[in-house]
Amino acid sequence: MVLSAAITFTLNGTPTALPPDVSPTTTLLDWLRGTPRLTGTKEGCAEGDCGACTVVLEQPDGGRAAVNACLLTLGQLHGRRVRSVEGLRGEDGCAHVVQETMAACNGTQCGFCTPGIVMSVWAHQVEGGEVHEALAGNLCRCTGYRPILEAVSKLQPEPAAPVETAPPLAVTFEAPGQKFFRPVSLAQLVHLRAEHPNAMLLAGGTDLGLRFSEHRERPAKVICTLDVAELGVVEVLPEGMQIGAAVPYRTLLSLCEAETGFGGFADLLRRLGSRQIRTMGTLGGNLGTASPIGDALPPLLALGASVRIAGPEGEREMLVEDFLIDYRKNALQMGEVIRDLWLPRPAPGALFSCDKLSRRHDQDITAAGLSVLIGVADGRIASARVAHGGVGPKAARAVAAEAALEGAAFTQASFDAAAEALQGDITPMGDLRASAEYRRLACGNLMRRLWFRWSAQEVV
Ligand SMILES: Cc1cc2nc3c(=O)[nH]c(=O)nc-3n(C[C@H](O)[C@H](O)[C@H](O)COP(=O)(O)OP(=O)(O)OC[C@H]3O[C@@H](n4cnc5c(N)ncnc54)[C@H](O)[C@@H]3O)c2cc1C
Ligand code: FES
Ligand code: FES
Repeated sequence: MVLSAAITFTLNGTPTALPPDVSPTTTLLDWLRGTPRLTGTKEGCAEGDCGACTVVLEQPDGGRAAVNACLLTLGQLHGRRVRSVEGLRGEDGCAHVVQETMAACNGTQCGFCTPGIVMSVWAHQVEGGEVHEALAGNLCRCTGYRPILEAVSKLQPEPAAPVETAPPLAVTFEAPGQKFFRPVSLAQLVHLRAEHPNAMLLAGGTDLGLRFSEHRERPAKVICTLDVAELGVVEVLPEGMQIGAAVPYRTLLSLCEAETGFGGFADLLRRLGSRQIRTMGTLGGNLGTASPIGDALPPLLALGASVRIAGPEGEREMLVEDFLIDYRKNALQMGEVIRDLWLPRPAPGALFSCDKLSRRHDQDITAAGLSVLIGVADGRIASARVAHGGVGPKAARAVAAEAALEGAAFTQASFDAAAEALQGDITPMGDLRASAEYRRLACGNLMRRLWFRWSAQEVV
């Protein structure tokens, strides 16, 4: 590993190197507003929810990935190209067409959200897709979205302009009282993990980032997985997909949208956080937290996914259902990391739905989640895998519901019976998001609803 390298990145087209006294766990938002005094990027919530801090990572493939500067640390930013709202200004100093159109359509009042919205829209011009989804991570409290959407509708899509980038080098950033390691191979990662067992293991930082932005923690040692080649691998095979632990949801979503059999997972991923969160968040991070409300976990359980773990003793593989042990507890032993996941492809014709109930459709924490994968043949449910989230100490398979479905006729009565059986699989609690009774009722209804969704399709 190279020691004491400087953190370097390209900011608004200009190569930038930070002095060694800058903490690598400083958030990009704090740094932008502090040192270069680029105060166009705003702080609303400092926890990834409001989008006021949105900047764009210019991707090597020419994509524009919106990201929350309040959660992104300088150590993670190393080697990337980032654009803040100031970087949209033309050479003549004039406002960008996105800014002009927003103003012309009265898409701004107090203006606090506007730089973040402008950056999301600038990214959307290349990224495309649903405008609702592009803006789901940007809150505007006073203008209302109608004029903003009108502005977006007047803008033209833009082509991606790929840029050449050099492969990353293994580096360590040393600041007073801190070391931030960026290994590039699994061997280096495992070695560092063994050498520094108490170091924070950081992937996208969409969970851990709150510790820097809100709690102002400055961990003594951080090992960042984002450049580890093996953790960035994506392999698509007829039988399924191998997804590296550090592959961002942004990439996973495109894969699930494109690949036969994974559409149900794509529907859920579109509601996991916002585009900004999906630029950085990873499957490895969702498994790492082993949170009962990790949205990716029920789909992985329903698919029968397995996880490959690497550690000082070598590698081992296990089903995700064995990996999730208890409330926020996974099967990782000291020194081990998640290397990648294997997502088996559902059989042709299988039905796969991944539902999430939350108080708000976008950017909200799950109150109850249910993922169901069934195979139907000759009017009967030949196979069933059911998994729940948010209604027990961990995301888990619903074995009683599976037993009720398997072998049963493909009829409404079978889904009603599975909804009843599901009540024995779940142990919901009440909290500020939902009461235990609501969660029970809602979980059963998610199962019942599948009959109406699927019977409308030609499946038998
Ligand atoms: C505004 C906001 C909205 C969100 N919305 C959702 C949502 O809708 N649904 C949802 O499920 N989550 C949501 N999250 C949480 C978060 O985005 C996910 O849990 C995400 O998967 C975390 O991935 P990460 O790469 O950012 O993890 P990090 O924050 O980097 O790490 C999380 C944990 O995983 C561990 N870890 C990371 N990689 C590995 C590895 N390779 N091996 C072992 N351990 C590892 C870390 O050590 C840490 O303990 C949201 C977060 C925010 C801030
Ligand atoms: S300040 Fe609200 S998302 Fe970053
Ligand atoms: S213009 Fe005021 S919050 Fe959007």
